[in-house]
Amino acid sequence: MNESRPNGTSVDYLGEQITALLADPATTHGLARTLRATAKEIEVSRYHRASQKAYPSGRIDSAPRNVQVGGGAHRIDGFFNIDVVPPADLLWDVREGLPLHDGSVETLFSEHFLEHVDYPISAKEYAREAHRVLVPGGRLITGVPDAAFVLARYPAGPEDAQEMIERWYGKRTCRADINTYLDLINYVFRDQDDDPNYTPHHWAYDLDKLRQLFAEAGFTSVEPWEFDPAMANPKREWASVYVVATR
Ligand SMILES: C[S@@+](CC[C@H](N)C(=O)[O-])C[C@H]1O[C@@H](n2cnc3c(N)ncnc32)[C@H](O)[C@@H]1O
Repeated sequence: MNESRPNGTSVDYLGEQITALLADPATTHGLARTLRATAKEIEVSRYHRASQKAYPSGRIDSAPRNVQVGGGAHRIDGFFNIDVVPPADLLWDVREGLPLHDGSVETLFSEHFLEHVDYPISAKEYAREAHRVLVPGGRLITGVPDAAFVLARYPAGPEDAQEMIERWYGKRTCRADINTYLDLINYVFRDQDDDPNYTPHHWAYDLDKLRQLFAEAGFTSVEPWEFDPAMANPKREWASVYVVATR
């Protein structure tokens, strides 16, 4: 046991060790990539553990009727926001389940969130949890980048590819590294997985996959959702696929 180990949980200690290793020029590139990913998970787990302390039963005290998951900075009037990092009404890692009461939610909304959780464990758990927390007839609205959109255009002509690159990555550091259409597809499927400003994409979805995922979780119908900019982020409309699954 290292005698310099400070008081506190082992996760916090691990975080300090990772910070030190990342500052060490001897740490190899491959190891540093893994450590950066672990450091991000440690930050998430800190927020989650703090909320868990406040709600040890795994359920919050209130019962919001409308909930957004993974909204980031995007707020929706009348919705309670759950995200793993600030700003949000509740910082909670939904891979650990939804901290909501059974049959209590009318509308559960997310966009460009589901592809950020691992498949099948967390994605299928989210679908089951969404089904659990919704009232009968409640709606689960889910939008994700539409993998069918980019794949249907392969190999894309220069104009199509240019529009996608400019819309999605025009202001990003990866812009110069999108050298072929397949590079673009790779970014759509993985995102900038080693950049602390972004979270990696773990799975790609299309209409067919969303239908299957939510039907498997018990939803009675899963239909395309007509994009509503009062709820959804207008910048997400292009090349995304949205569905509404009804409990
Ligand atoms: C790409 S951003 C999308 C933000 C917003 N929905 C939008 O469309 O602009 C993905 C969001 O999902 C959140 N997120 C990722 N994994 C999560 C998890 N396990 N639990 C809760 N939120 C998560 C991230 O923190 C981030 O805010």
